Amino acid sequence: ATTLGASAAQTGRYFGTAISAGKLGDSTYTTIANREFDMVTAENEMKLDATEPNQNQFNYTAGDRVANWATSNGKRLRGHTLAWHSQQPGWMQNMSGTALRNAMLNHVTQVATHYRGKIYAWDVVNEAFEDGGSGARRDSNLQRTGNDWIEAAFRAARAADPGAKLCYNDYNIDNPDHAKTKAVVAMVRDFKNRGVPIDCVGLQAHFNSGNPVPSNFQTTLSTFAGLGVDVQITELDIQGSGTDQANKYRLVTNACLAISRCNGITVWGVRDTDSWRPGDTPLLFDGNGNKKPAYTATLDALNAG
Ligand code: G3I
Repeated sequence: ATTLGASAAQTGRYFGTAISAGKLGDSTYTTIANREFDMVTAENEMKLDATEPNQNQFNYTAGDRVANWATSNGKRLRGHTLAWHSQQPGWMQNMSGTALRNAMLNHVTQVATHYRGKIYAWDVVNEAFEDGGSGARRDSNLQRTGNDWIEAAFRAARAADPGAKLCYNDYNIDNPDHAKTKAVVAMVRDFKNRGVPIDCVGLQAHFNSGNPVPSNFQTTLSTFAGLGVDVQITELDIQGSGTDQANKYRLVTNACLAISRCNGITVWGVRDTDSWRPGDTPLLFDGNGNKKPAYTATLDALNAG
């Protein structure tokens, strides 16, 4: 096949992109996005600060623009994200204890209910583990409400939208030997053992010199899959250019293709100029919308898979 989405579909997978509502008027952007991808994640529009700017006053205007663009173009939708230490609205940043726990659960319930039936998978909880060698939970106002805040969020999400896959999503969990990866593995194993409703792990896969693509990335995917959850690559971008970058995209794509429970890959933006990393060129299309070597390597890998 000749597009990323159609090529991934040959093995029952998807190929997605982050979409920014503010760019839906840019026809170069929408032409590429519509042609190449069959899964959409709102880059910012479904986050806590966007959807609940004032407590109990929900605003779905921007989120719905992305959702409607996706569904009217025949694409599936990933929900991002219901509970996160970052991008909290001001009112939530200043909360703690039971009041925060209840506000978080209400947020999960309300947003998941609004999008019920439209979401392939939700990133229920995002980035709850610390970087470095400790393997500890990240300190945050949510974490300080009690270690069970993550499972409480998953239970609320399941009740609100029983049809969506419920994922834990994080970055720097790509290397199977790193403490952060092992800590997330342990949490997922514990959740499966105790019947906490978790269906998938999202590996953001933001790769750069500080977090290089591990040669044994596939081992990480198979380790998570072996726990009885699906895995998805949810925010892929890889610092670099040319053949070296293409080889890294090929490695990541082949790793997913080798694991039957790896359902698909989403890149975190369309063109290099759409990336959250200013000055970097981590995506599959250049600023003019031209296909890069990384695009061709990814497409060829999908077609060989
Ligand atoms: O829209 C406002 C604009 O009106 C204002 O003038 C400008 C001034 O700063 O800010 C604009 O909002 C920015 C928004 O992106 C849209 O461009 C926010 O400040 C900025 O914080 C926000 O950054 C986003 C970041 O998450 C926030 O945490 C990035 O776009 C987005 O790509 C990034 O995505 C995250 C995932 O959600 C989670 N994983 C990591 C990934 C990369 O950081």
